[in-house]
Amino acid sequence: METTKVGIVGCGNISGIYLKNCQEVFEILEVGACADLVPERARAQAEKFGLPKACTVEQLLADEEIRIVVNLTTPNAHAEVALASVAAGKNVHNEKPLTVTRADGRKLLKMAEAKGLRVGCAPDTFLGAGLQTCRKLIDDGWIGQPVAATAFMTCHGHESWHPDPEFYYKPGGGPMFDMGPYYVTALVALMGPVKRVTGSARITFPQRLITSQPKFGTKIAVEVPSHVAGVMDFANGAVGTIITSFDIWAANLPRIEIYGTEGSLSVPDPNGFGGPVRVRRAGASEWSDVPLTHPYPQNSRGIGVADMAYGLRSGRPHRTNGELAYHVLDVMHAFHDASEQGRHVELTSSCRRPAPLPMSLRHGTLDE
Ligand SMILES: NC(=O)c1ccc[n+]([C@@H]2O[C@H](COP(=O)([O-])OP(=O)(O)OC[C@H]3O[C@@H](n4cnc5c(N)ncnc54)[C@H](O)[C@@H]3O)[C@@H](O)[C@H]2O)c1
Repeated sequence: METTKVGIVGCGNISGIYLKNCQEVFEILEVGACADLVPERARAQAEKFGLPKACTVEQLLADEEIRIVVNLTTPNAHAEVALASVAAGKNVHNEKPLTVTRADGRKLLKMAEAKGLRVGCAPDTFLGAGLQTCRKLIDDGWIGQPVAATAFMTCHGHESWHPDPEFYYKPGGGPMFDMGPYYVTALVALMGPVKRVTGSARITFPQRLITSQPKFGTKIAVEVPSHVAGVMDFANGAVGTIITSFDIWAANLPRIEIYGTEGSLSVPDPNGFGGPVRVRRAGASEWSDVPLTHPYPQNSRGIGVADMAYGLRSGRPHRTNGELAYHVLDVMHAFHDASEQGRHVELTSSCRRPAPLPMSLRHGTLDE
C-alpha cells in the first residue's frame, strides 16, 4: 500500500506512543522526519524509532514528501506550529487542545479551508473499541433516548510525575483544557453537539510544587482554574454534568455515565481505548458487562492521524476533525466564561457526530 508521510513536531513525553503506532501499527502511515525546539530530543526519537531524519521545524515543513504534520508540542505552541504547517501546504493533526484561544482555532480552520487542507486534533480515543461500542449501543437504542450524562475527571495534578509540568497550570492547561477534551469529545461523539453551558471554576492552590524529576522543588504559579464544574445542554435535549479537577486527592465517581429513557450506560475512561462497557436496562437488577464490538482496544494514539490519511486517499471526511475539535474548545472556554460572567453561555459553534468505525477491520488498517 502507498503510505502517507507524516512529520512529527514536538518530541516530548507523548511522542513515543505516536511514533510507535505510526511506524509499527498503522500501515498507511510512515514517519518521514521529526523535529523539536530542543534538537537532542528530536535526534533521540529519530534514533530510537529508526526515522530517516531529525531536523528543524523549518526543514520539516520544507520537506515536500511530508503530507501531514503531527503537532505534539505543548498547548501554547499548537497554533503557531499548526498555522506554519498549513502555510507550508501541509495538513495538520494537533494534540489537544486544538489551540488555546477560540480566535486562533477559527483562524486555523479558515486558513486550512482556503488552502484545501485538513485539520485534525486529538483526542482520538473515541475511535477505540470502548467508546465505539458505547456509540453502537446508543445508536441501536439500548438505553432509549439520552436524558442526561455525567463526566468526572478528578486528580491532584501532574506535578508528581510529569518531567516538565508547568504548562498544566498556564493558559491552555488546567484540568478542563488538559483532560476536558477527552470527556467533552467523548460526549459529543456519542450524543452530538452542545447548545449552551454554564459552570463554576476556581483556583484552589495559587502555587504548586513540582515533586517529579528533574525539576523537583520548583514552584509553579497557577494561572488557570484548577477545579471546573459545568452543565451542558446538548442539542438532543440531554443535560450533561461535568467536573474536571486537579484539586481532588480521592473520589468514588464514575468516569462517564449516560442515562437514557430505557436504561443507563457506563462508559469507560475516555483517556483510553478499551473497556469496560456496562449497561443496566430498565427493570434489570444489576449492570451487565458488554463485550467490545469494535477493534482497537489497546493504546492506539495516532489512529486519528491514520484516519486523516485514509480520508486524504479516498476523499472521505476524517473523524477527528477540526470542526469537532473547535466545538470542544468552544465548550471548554464557555465553562470558564460562564463562571466569570455568572450566566449561561449559548454556543455559536456546532458540529456533526463523526461517522462510527466499521466493526471489523484488519489490525493496522481503517477502511479495508
Ligand atoms: N504527556 C501525556 O501523557 C500526554 C497525553 C496526551 C496528550 N498530551 C498532549 O501532548 C502535547 C505534548 O505533551 P507532552 O507531555 O509530550 O509535553 P512535553 O513538554 O513532554 O513535550 C513537548 C515538546 O514540544 C517541544 N516544543 C514546544 N514548542 C515547540 C515548537 N514551537 N516547535 C517545536 N517543538 C516545540 C518541546 O521542546 C517538547 O520537547 C500537549 O498538548 C499535551 O496536552 C500529553
